Amino acid sequence: DESKKGVKGLFDSGLTTIPRFFIHPPETLSELKLDSRAPPESISIPVIDLSDRHSAIVDQISRACRKFGFFQIVNHGIALETLERTVSSIKAFHDQPNEMKAPLYSREPAGSIRYFSNVDLFYTKAASWMDTLYMKVEPNSQTLKELPEICRKEMVDWHREVKVLVDKLTELMSEGLGLSAEKLKEYTCLEGCTMVGNYYPSCPQPHLTMGNASHTDGGVLTVLIQDQIGGLQVQYGDLWVDVKPVPGAIVINVGDLLQIITNDEYKSGLHRVLANSSGKSRVSVAVFPEPGKKDGLFGPLLELTSPNKPALYKHFTYFEYIGKFFSSKVEGKTMIDGY
Ligand code: SIN
Ligand code: FE2
Repeated sequence: DESKKGVKGLFDSGLTTIPRFFIHPPETLSELKLDSRAPPESISIPVIDLSDRHSAIVDQISRACRKFGFFQIVNHGIALETLERTVSSIKAFHDQPNEMKAPLYSREPAGSIRYFSNVDLFYTKAASWMDTLYMKVEPNSQTLKELPEICRKEMVDWHREVKVLVDKLTELMSEGLGLSAEKLKEYTCLEGCTMVGNYYPSCPQPHLTMGNASHTDGGVLTVLIQDQIGGLQVQYGDLWVDVKPVPGAIVINVGDLLQIITNDEYKSGLHRVLANSSGKSRVSVAVFPEPGKKDGLFGPLLELTSPNKPALYKHFTYFEYIGKFFSSKVEGKTMIDGY
């Protein structure tokens, strides 16, 4: 079955024009052309040094979450080699002969470990130029033992590192809201975890499609590592700002649920990935920590509402939230619009 070969299979077949199915609508494509308007130097995604003074870090994270909903961190205590090994293992998964990947191919939402193309077909009209390895590794940590052999050890190690990092980040983000360091962690109870290994083959007509169509992430925060190819961009006003690859850096972004919890103090940044014709495939690995309790109630924190700034969202259970997320994520419409 051809579709099971993914976008990589299409690229490997040597095609020079992309199938219609991948051509994005004129609105999206005209936005791509505007890219020649490079943002001024002063508008760039902050790279925050975690070895800096504590108060300086909190301040920078707070400002980045309010302005872009995106930042990068360096000197975070995780070795460059660990980041590179993680990314390489995901590249190795996708570079395997198709017979190795085909048994994992599934577009069904059930299944903890799945491989598929065009994740954004769930919410856009056109397909995008990417393949994905999806790994839901918590709350059922048995899944870690069942990951594809070729990236198992690396993803187990990465999962362990990210858990420590997420703990640290939620504390800093909580302090950035003027709350106690533990508040966000206690409120969100991030005991679930999904990891995603993205592969964007080089594309013969990058101006007609997208690597990953514009969207916001649904969760609390996302931890992302990328190789040095580039293409990830964040919307700021009417500009698209590059999240430039920085060796050793980790990209962090605010998700819809955190925007809701913070009553819009922090912003869930709209982002996208451009397709590229560099001849090389781009690889990224995203980790999405999730609230553990499906029946837990979420909504704007009382501390962040006031007579001047009443709650902008209703309270809902996480279970209701996920249902709504998938049904309302149509044509770039995010969860937030639904409340
Ligand atoms: C995503 O936003 O889902 C992926 C981002 C990336 O590949 O850099
Ligand atoms: Fe994303």
